[in-house]
Amino acid sequence: MTAAIRTVGLTKRYGSVLAVDGIELDVPPGDIYGFLGPNGSGKTTTVRMLLGLVLPTAGTVEVLGARIPKHARSVLHRVGALVEAPAAYGHLGARANLSIMDAAGPGGARRTRKARIDQALEQVGLAGVGRRPVKAYSLGMRQRLGIAAALLRRPDLLILDEPTNGLDPRGIQEIRKLLLDLNSSAGTTIFLSSHLLAEVEHLCRRVGVVDRGRLVLQDSLAALRAPTGSVVVRTPDPEWAVGVLDGDLRERSGDRLVVRAADPAELNARLVRHGIRISELAEERRTLEEVVLAATTGSSDRVDGAVPPTMGVRSEVLSSDDSAWDRPPPGPPMPLPTRRPTTPSPLQSPRPEPTRSEPDWTGRCSCGANCGRSRCTAIRSSSTSRGWLVV
Ligand SMILES: Nc1ncnc2c1ncn2[C@@H]1O[C@H](COP(=O)(O)OP(=O)(O)OP(=O)(O)O)[C@@H](O)[C@H]1O
Ligand SMILES: [Mg+2]
Repeated sequence: MTAAIRTVGLTKRYGSVLAVDGIELDVPPGDIYGFLGPNGSGKTTTVRMLLGLVLPTAGTVEVLGARIPKHARSVLHRVGALVEAPAAYGHLGARANLSIMDAAGPGGARRTRKARIDQALEQVGLAGVGRRPVKAYSLGMRQRLGIAAALLRRPDLLILDEPTNGLDPRGIQEIRKLLLDLNSSAGTTIFLSSHLLAEVEHLCRRVGVVDRGRLVLQDSLAALRAPTGSVVVRTPDPEWAVGVLDGDLRERSGDRLVVRAADPAELNARLVRHGIRISELAEERRTLEEVVLAATTGSSDRVDGAVPPTMGVRSEVLSSDDSAWDRPPPGPPMPLPTRRPTTPSPLQSPRPEPTRSEPDWTGRCSCGANCGRSRCTAIRSSSTSRGWLVV
């Protein structure tokens, strides 16, 4: 059976950043696949390579049996896609935008265009949007329009990158229902990237987890959430229960007990035999959140500043009395300055060295003059009348 998506050793490097590192995706036709990962883990880059929008540094991509990007033209009209924020002409309405998108590229028959546009808008809840220009849409409406564009050609495969971005809980539920309907009625394969665990848990049958560019987990949701071999019991008689359970008790917090037991029904009967009242009893299963957090390390897009050792960050590498934080780096000793220090004349205020202001990590100017520029190269100089010389 031809896979809907298959990648082998898929890798993308941007300079020193290894955005995607040897990913092997396997998405069978008819599946609903959730591609999960923290911020910056490589989801969008992978999606872009699946659609031929970014060329891999190494590895191969096959979509609906065709190699991408080589045979992209022959197969991509059967694929509906939404990558990050959907793009549209702001001064045009939804119908005009969809019409332009449908006319671009193969696969969109002109005689069925109007009916397909109406159906797609109906499916995403924008049927009554009229001629209102897209620039007047809310974030949620833009997202719905992006999904409508993906549905326009009645695709065999939907590749959606964070499809419910900006939607409220009801909107998320509507889109989830729509995707489930498409999958069950038309057999549409759905590949959905997200960092919303609840969304994936409610929708997907198979899950791939990516962490810092590597696929660390790929399995069915049922297997990932299989019973752990323990049973969670709530009882108003926890003290009695603890006595009866003896060595089978794994954890206790208040009236909640976690008990090692292969058969919940047998455990239930055992507790009832001893006259212990039970208010709740269920097999213990790991949540998807627990599975994902165990498999991943954290957001790879964190840009934390240096933290002094007192805040504990470097305590793993420094012993308690180690003051390496303040020591010079290892290597030959730094030469001492040879210039004699000059003392400013009492009549002349000391003239500071001109210092060039650098943009900070957010890209905003850090010159302090609130210049509003993104790439300000202000020079602090006491010799100018305005105090700041902007180059
Ligand atoms: N065009 C680019 N040039 C340089 N680096 C890039 C480029 N695109 C992505 N990256 C880097 O690749 C890594 C993965 O980015 P990507 O956008 O694929 O992550 P993501 O999992 O989609 O994150 P998010 O959940 O925030 O959308 C990041 O470190 C990012 O900075
Ligand atoms: Mg992304």
